[in-house]
Amino acid sequence: MEALRTVDINTWQTPVDAELRKEVTLALEQGQVLFLPKLGFALEESEKQFLSPHWLDASRKNISLEGAKVGGAQGTEQELARLAAMVARFSNQATNLVHQLFPSYAAHLHQARTSYRPGLVGANTAISWKKDDSRLHVDAFPSRPNHGERILRVFSNVNADGVDRVWRVGEPFEATAVKFLPKINKPMLGSAALLKLLKITKKKRSVYDHIMLHLHDGMKADMDFQQNVPQETVHFPPGSTWICFSDQVLHAAMSGQFMFEQTFHLPITALQHPELSPLKVLERLKGRPLI
Ligand code: SIN
Ligand code: FE
Repeated sequence: MEALRTVDINTWQTPVDAELRKEVTLALEQGQVLFLPKLGFALEESEKQFLSPHWLDASRKNISLEGAKVGGAQGTEQELARLAAMVARFSNQATNLVHQLFPSYAAHLHQARTSYRPGLVGANTAISWKKDDSRLHVDAFPSRPNHGERILRVFSNVNADGVDRVWRVGEPFEATAVKFLPKINKPMLGSAALLKLLKITKKKRSVYDHIMLHLHDGMKADMDFQQNVPQETVHFPPGSTWICFSDQVLHAAMSGQFMFEQTFHLPITALQHPELSPLKVLERLKGRPLI
């Protein structure tokens, strides 16, 4: 399977024909990254000043939309309001796009974080290996159990100096799951309730979430795997957009700067092929329910 499936559309809201919708939905659910080389997020002239990392609050990795405001940014009240408007516009366009491409998801999508990432990938060398996204991983977050809900992400490179965002994309999810599952122990009895009680997790960590977290960490800790697992290096140029299920696609951000990202959550009942989802794949491999 190729890592990328190129989609030739160039607007954020033109209806997509039914045949193409079906094809791209299957490609996405099979774990390909949909690559839209002709679809860029256009900054307004007055927003180009935001193409600098100095808007980022020193302690933060991303600028994110929090209601009508931005978090993680520094500037005057007026500047922050204009930053928020820019990030909100990306959010709206990304939402329009997924509604056109995947109308069967539309009623079930939960809009999650929108972020603007003006930082240079790899600039923070003090980061711990678990947070190092230049190591191949699937997205799984210690504090945010999702009980099998999908993580769908839309990314746009807005670099003004011609700099690509470069990712590595690894083998299909199931192949990696087969390698790591034998090394993942059961969660300790009572640990999920304790994590919830201590407010370390927002809701109870299911066995599925436990396994996903160990897959995330296991991959990142294994340098032999990182180097030798089948993988492709892919380039996302400025003016392009890409979409993937980041809980399924093994990905690593190698270089680049200035990107927008919109996250959605999607229940697996909304998928065309739920059997391809990480939850169903892991349940089949383990031979039992994991939620
Ligand atoms: C990630 O989702 O792991 C990072 C993506 C990026 O920064 O390009
Ligand atoms: Fe990631």
